[in-house]
Amino acid sequence: EVVDVAPMAYELGGYRHWMHKEIHEQPAAVERAISGRIEDRFATAHLGGLDLSPRDARAVRRVVVLGAGSAYLAGRLGAQLIEEVARIPAVAEPAAEFRYRNPVIEPDTLYVAVSQSGETYDTLAAVQEVQRKGGRVVGIVGVVGSAIARAAGSGIYLHAGPEVSVTSTKTYTATAVSFALLALHLGRVRDLSPADGRRLLGGLRALPGQIAEILAAEDDVAAVAARWSAYSGMLYVGRVRGAVVAAEGALKLKEVAYIHAEAYPASELKHGPLALVSPERPVVVVVPDDELREKNLGTIAEIKARDGRVLVVGHDRALAAVADEVLVVPRNEPELDPILLGIPLQLFAYHAAVTLGHDVDRPRNLAKSVTVE
Ligand code: G6P
Repeated sequence: EVVDVAPMAYELGGYRHWMHKEIHEQPAAVERAISGRIEDRFATAHLGGLDLSPRDARAVRRVVVLGAGSAYLAGRLGAQLIEEVARIPAVAEPAAEFRYRNPVIEPDTLYVAVSQSGETYDTLAAVQEVQRKGGRVVGIVGVVGSAIARAAGSGIYLHAGPEVSVTSTKTYTATAVSFALLALHLGRVRDLSPADGRRLLGGLRALPGQIAEILAAEDDVAAVAARWSAYSGMLYVGRVRGAVVAAEGALKLKEVAYIHAEAYPASELKHGPLALVSPERPVVVVVPDDELREKNLGTIAEIKARDGRVLVVGHDRALAAVADEVLVVPRNEPELDPILLGIPLQLFAYHAAVTLGHDVDRPRNLAKSVTVE
């Protein structure tokens, strides 16, 4: 499978940093990730490289997603999508943790290896551990012909074009979109209705335009990031769909801005981390428009009652009444909203890093891909 990456070639163009360019390439990257993969007639996704017959797909009883860093976190979002959309129990685990704990490999589990570079040693070793024990692996991989793509033998390529900046932005989003396609595909050979299939296809098609809309409001995010870059640490919290958005947002902030950021399920705040909340240690709260919105508003009230400052990422300006800062993204379908909610937090980390004068594309101590143990 050969994909033309010319429109996203290795040129900075008018951008100061690769990370900035790659954040802005996301509408096009998502467009490419879904192009040719939508099958309107059956309200499903067509994934040519997956090599999973309908009978095989129906036999899957569990999905385990393996990856490292942002690939692992995109995998958590993916597991959430698969469980929600296809109603198959699904979890994600860091690949190295998995391979060192002598995992039980089950014949009716589908193992999904996620890697932008396709060369991360721990992820490759996890694939080999699964296969050695007779398990079935598919890949979600950025680089065609890479070690993990070859080892897995089948799967989904991201089609996102090259990613140069060490921290992953467009490949994280393209991975999440690939998982949405996989979830739709698995769902439609099982119990997902055609109406829900069409609803999700509509959502997927709307993503590029909505991401562009979020990017058009970059100046607002930059202004908040410039102010908040003065803090030495933050908490990021969310529930279920919002929890993984918080985790990836916190990782980005650590990686490029070198600000300590810890992600927690919002429900766990009162069981420990609330002790850290103060005017000096603010909280980013991810508030999707779902059945947990009221609970998230309760979390915000708890933080405000401790004199904590709150930055909300959500879907409506009305949240400004309860928070100190609000970043608003458009609504898509509830299952796909986490993809949109993550975008402002990429810009937030980027602009915090720029304000602090860091080398955003080559953060200290980090490498683009870790090909050794
Ligand atoms: C490195 C990079 C991360 C990346 C991780 C996994 O640690 O700094 O940004 O998420 O590797 O890379 P992969 O190529 O497997 O997605």
